[in-house]
Amino acid sequence: MLQAILSPADLLTTLGERYATKKFDPSKKIPHETWHALEESMRLSPSSFGIQPWWFIVVDTPEIRARLLPVSWGQSQITDADRLVVFATLKQVENKHVRHYIEDMAQTRGLRPEDLAGFEQMLQTAMMPKANIEWNRRQSYIAMGFLGLSAALLGVDTCMLEGIDPTAYDNILGLTDTDYATVAAVACGYRASEDDTIPEKRAKSRFPLDEVVRHV
Ligand SMILES: Cc1cc2nc3c(=O)[nH]c(=O)nc-3n(C[C@H](O)[C@H](O)[C@H](O)COP(=O)(O)O)c2cc1C
Repeated sequence: MLQAILSPADLLTTLGERYATKKFDPSKKIPHETWHALEESMRLSPSSFGIQPWWFIVVDTPEIRARLLPVSWGQSQITDADRLVVFATLKQVENKHVRHYIEDMAQTRGLRPEDLAGFEQMLQTAMMPKANIEWNRRQSYIAMGFLGLSAALLGVDTCMLEGIDPTAYDNILGLTDTDYATVAAVACGYRASEDDTIPEKRAKSRFPLDEVVRHV
């Protein structure tokens, strides 16, 4: 059984304090161990059929961050946050991607790829026809959610960023000739104290629970 590691009240406190950070403090760095756990939170995200149609591109190079800024509506999170992750997804799941998955799973579970022939065929017939870029993007958003929540639980601020030009990102990040395309980005770091959008200064805007949760 999963062990609860925090109380419901603590979870709600963290969710209430989390917000889409507009201003990061560029001097504050995420400790190495914390960042490693956040990279793992993306890798351990679920995906439909387990296909993992994603790359998580951590943009470490300041010059590349500077080039991304003007194609991100000039949003300061791109350059000020300690870490920037660009979520890229497969344009289409093909036979070679299914094969890679099967070989990886066989190795992990001490099997031969032939042992998974039935599963491989099911992926080819039931998944591949629908695993286009739209379907793959949806998988990436789940990983974004995992990163955002995991970061909040570790006291790290984030801002998910769809306000970017994905085609320009593909060019700058060298994705154009790959099987992957940019979906969105997530900036991670620590809030600047002068950020006016911190929840204590600006109440979180959410519809009431009984409006959005329907019991039937
Ligand atoms: C997929 C997605 C894309 C977003 N893109 C941006 C963005 O480009 N810039 C930004 O400042 N906030 C962005 N946000 C943040 C939302 O505006 C924010 O989550 C929402 O207004 C609720 O506020 P809160 O997260 O502070 O509670 C994005 C959020 C999501 C989930």
